[in-house]
Amino acid sequence: MDAFLINGGNRLKGTITVNGAKNSALPILAATLMVEGEIILKDVPDLRDVNTMCQLLTKLGVQVQRQENGDLHLTVLDEMNCHAEYDLVRQMRASVCIMGPMLAKRKKAQVALPGGCAIGDRPVNLHVQGLEALGAESELLSGDVHLKAKKLLGTELFLGGPFGSTVTGTANVMMAAALAQGRTVIESAACEPEVVDLGNFLNACGAQVTGHGSPRITIDGVKELRGCEYTVIPDRIEAGTFMIASAITNGELHLKNCKPEHLLAVIDKLRHIGVIVEKDNGGVVVSSARRLEPVEVTTLPYPGFPTDLQAQLMTLLCLADGNSVITERIFADRFLHVAELGRMGAHLRKEGSTVIVEGVKRLIGAPVMASDLRASAALVLAGLVAKGQTRVSRVYHIDRGYEQIEKRLIAIGADIQRIDEQIP
Ligand code: EPU
Repeated sequence: MDAFLINGGNRLKGTITVNGAKNSALPILAATLMVEGEIILKDVPDLRDVNTMCQLLTKLGVQVQRQENGDLHLTVLDEMNCHAEYDLVRQMRASVCIMGPMLAKRKKAQVALPGGCAIGDRPVNLHVQGLEALGAESELLSGDVHLKAKKLLGTELFLGGPFGSTVTGTANVMMAAALAQGRTVIESAACEPEVVDLGNFLNACGAQVTGHGSPRITIDGVKELRGCEYTVIPDRIEAGTFMIASAITNGELHLKNCKPEHLLAVIDKLRHIGVIVEKDNGGVVVSSARRLEPVEVTTLPYPGFPTDLQAQLMTLLCLADGNSVITERIFADRFLHVAELGRMGAHLRKEGSTVIVEGVKRLIGAPVMASDLRASAALVLAGLVAKGQTRVSRVYHIDRGYEQIEKRLIAIGADIQRIDEQIP
């Protein structure tokens, strides 16, 4: 299993080009199941999760080809198989994004339930409820959800849950509604830029989606979707992670292909901490004032502070001059990084879904274990600034969401090496 060895203390300086967004690419790839003719997707990152989705699409009859220039070409060749098996779904829960497209195009879908994951209990009840509102029937058999519908009919539906809107749930219903008969209105829809990107992709294929980016999305069903060429938006979470990498190493990074308008809550928080973030044509420059101020942060659905940057921000706040408070409102248990950061000398106290971060002068290198994608990123950030050597085990988690992370960090001055580690 791969691990990273990081010798901390180097200042990061230079230019980073942000890749296409994983969480846009995954539902857009799922949507290709509904499209006639060839689709060309640009800026799809070459990541483990993307490869898992491509494997799933191949099993479902889609021809997927990565070109030398990185573009993905996709064409549906065979519509017989409707089963997303547990083997793939348990590797990547975004596999559930095929429910809506399969139901809309093939009139049935059998999708293994993903089960829990490292960041907590992650149900898909809202996805299923939304699809049922469009006319689907559902049944749970041997761990698989079976969905079927003779036809889908547009309707008004409310998609909010106990923790607010659902990103991939909104995606599923929006995709199914694109080929439903009549008008669908989704209330309490997720407003994330990735949902907007999916809506724009569907429209580029001939769908009629409006209001995406607001909590009320209207979809007028069309008879068919046709192939198009489409470029995925830049990954705001990858950009935010590099911003924090710059801040924590007292560095200076120029992020290209970055949309600061997708990161307003993050930039606002970083500025309160004392990080300097300046727009620069087509990107941002991030540098750090040496003193980091403590802050209070609560994760919220977009446009609030994203849960996917909570762990990375916690690492930064470990070194602030005073006590910070971080509250997690999306995934109450998303704190596996807390104990690992503690091994590196951080002073953290968890109370329910809140962590009090008492700033310390320095972190100290240690062997630590990655447990999920964003927690792994947080540990790499800690390693970059810690005194001495840090070994981050199980970095396959980070490969799910950050393409060639160590090579890109080395290019801007980090001392990080990928090793093959035998874990007994
Ligand atoms: N929820 C329900 N029922 C549902 C669906 C969600 O109660 O049917 C709850 C969840 O348990 C959670 C909240 O609603 O408390 C929001 O979850 P959401 O459905 O929005 O999450 P998701 O769509 O499964 C996406 C991203 C996650 C990101 C979350 C929140 C993708 C592929 N995944 O997940 O990304 O954390 O939105 O922004 O888009 C990551 O990239 O590391 C990652 C975990």
